[in-house]
Amino acid sequence: MRRLSSEKTDVLLVFLTTAFKPEKDVLSNWIAKVMKSGDLTPQAGQVLDIFRPDGLACSRLVLLHVGEGAVADIRKAVLAAEGLIKSAKPKALTLSFLQTPTALALRVAVTTLADATYVYTATKSKAEGRTVQNATFMLPDALSLRVEFDRAVAAVAGIELAKEWGNRPANHATPTDLAHAARDLAKLPKIKCDILGPKEVAKLGMGAFQAVAQGSDEPLRFIVLRYSGAAKSAAPVVLVGKGITFDSGGISIKPAAEMDEMKFDMCGAASVLGVFRALADLQPGINVVGLIPACENLPSGRSIKPGDVVTSMNGQTIEILNTDAEGRLVLCDSLTYSERFKPHAVVDIATLTGACVIALGAVRSGFFCADEDLSRAMVMAGESSQDLCWPMPLDDDYAEGLKTNFADLANVAGRPGGAITAAKFLQKFTGKFPWAHLDIAGTAWKSGKAKGATGRPVGLLVDYLMALDAQDQQA
Ligand code: BES
Ligand code: MN
Ligand code: ZN
Repeated sequence: MRRLSSEKTDVLLVFLTTAFKPEKDVLSNWIAKVMKSGDLTPQAGQVLDIFRPDGLACSRLVLLHVGEGAVADIRKAVLAAEGLIKSAKPKALTLSFLQTPTALALRVAVTTLADATYVYTATKSKAEGRTVQNATFMLPDALSLRVEFDRAVAAVAGIELAKEWGNRPANHATPTDLAHAARDLAKLPKIKCDILGPKEVAKLGMGAFQAVAQGSDEPLRFIVLRYSGAAKSAAPVVLVGKGITFDSGGISIKPAAEMDEMKFDMCGAASVLGVFRALADLQPGINVVGLIPACENLPSGRSIKPGDVVTSMNGQTIEILNTDAEGRLVLCDSLTYSERFKPHAVVDIATLTGACVIALGAVRSGFFCADEDLSRAMVMAGESSQDLCWPMPLDDDYAEGLKTNFADLANVAGRPGGAITAAKFLQKFTGKFPWAHLDIAGTAWKSGKAKGATGRPVGLLVDYLMALDAQDQQA
């Protein structure tokens, strides 16, 4: 506590729990005083801001009550101080736990603080970016949580890259721009990148992906990222991210209201970029492949029309009954492409259905998986990162509606259970490997006043991969 009193920083944030016992130092006195006066009550999310407190070296002291210190309360407290932190414009910020937190609590403090101080600037003419240059975390037994802390910081770097690309408008985040972002990642250790264009994709026979891209003047890109942390012979995890840089719906055009939010339809792709950013920091001993089918979905004289039948890369023909169900079309060819890596597992990440938003809202991503081990690992990673997902069913009966008289498969099956029928469509391309699908339509961005990408599910994916790495080291 004495050290905290002399901590020279612009903002000193102190987490208080109900277990707090004052010692004989200046900070303790301050805390005892405000608690006694009732200016700070012992409920999670209560915040008190003190300007130039006498006897302390900080410019501002912010006391954050976190109740008994539960993870949800830590998040609540940091978010309650968000406005205050932003208006104080600190360059240096210190966040202090008086008792050693759990790994999870520390993780949530790091990620929530990053979230609360993130500022989007890319397309503003007079942008003031994030003011915080330096955030220090103080805890009694810092050494014991070093690994957790480093992982949280690496996850944040990935989350912020995902937010950045998610937030950029479609004219500043074209398929070509995404490819350049991937190229930049390949400058980092153990990462390589290949970019395929329309010609190569045609040669591969990706008829479904091509069909979506053909309505736009913006050329498609198929991005292949590789992180090599293990021997060549080690089967990789393949991450496939939906990269629709703008989804107008195509000929089955969407209504005008909120159509701008369809710039976020590449948040799956952005999450793959984010994971690779984190891998570069964490350097786990595993192999990971990232696949991003990137294109626009626009109406034009060259667009696909409802009723058109296309041939996917694995030979299955698809009747495109609704051109707005384009995500599954770009993903199915990418899933077929992933066969060549003989993967340990394939996870696709997609802002796939409005139905998933209705089913689960913004709290948990929809999770679909028929493989028990993979399913358990992913759900656990959601918990450990607090980037939550929820298991959804994959009964074959849900695929009934995908039958059609004119092709092997239709791309839509009516409104009921729309998130599940979309997953069933994808599943038809995943026979050769364990597969999981994350529908992040509700979780990848926020609407309204807080409109912006969340960077989810980078946290979940990083934890899944790091758990695999730990498992490999034991084996
Ligand atoms: N990108 C959308 C899904 C979406 C919609 C995400 C709204 C978040 C908010 C996707 O391409 C889409 O348009 N899906 C359709 C499928 C339908 C035509 C079967 C949908 O959900 O309406
Ligand atoms: Mn669509
Ligand atoms: Zn879409």
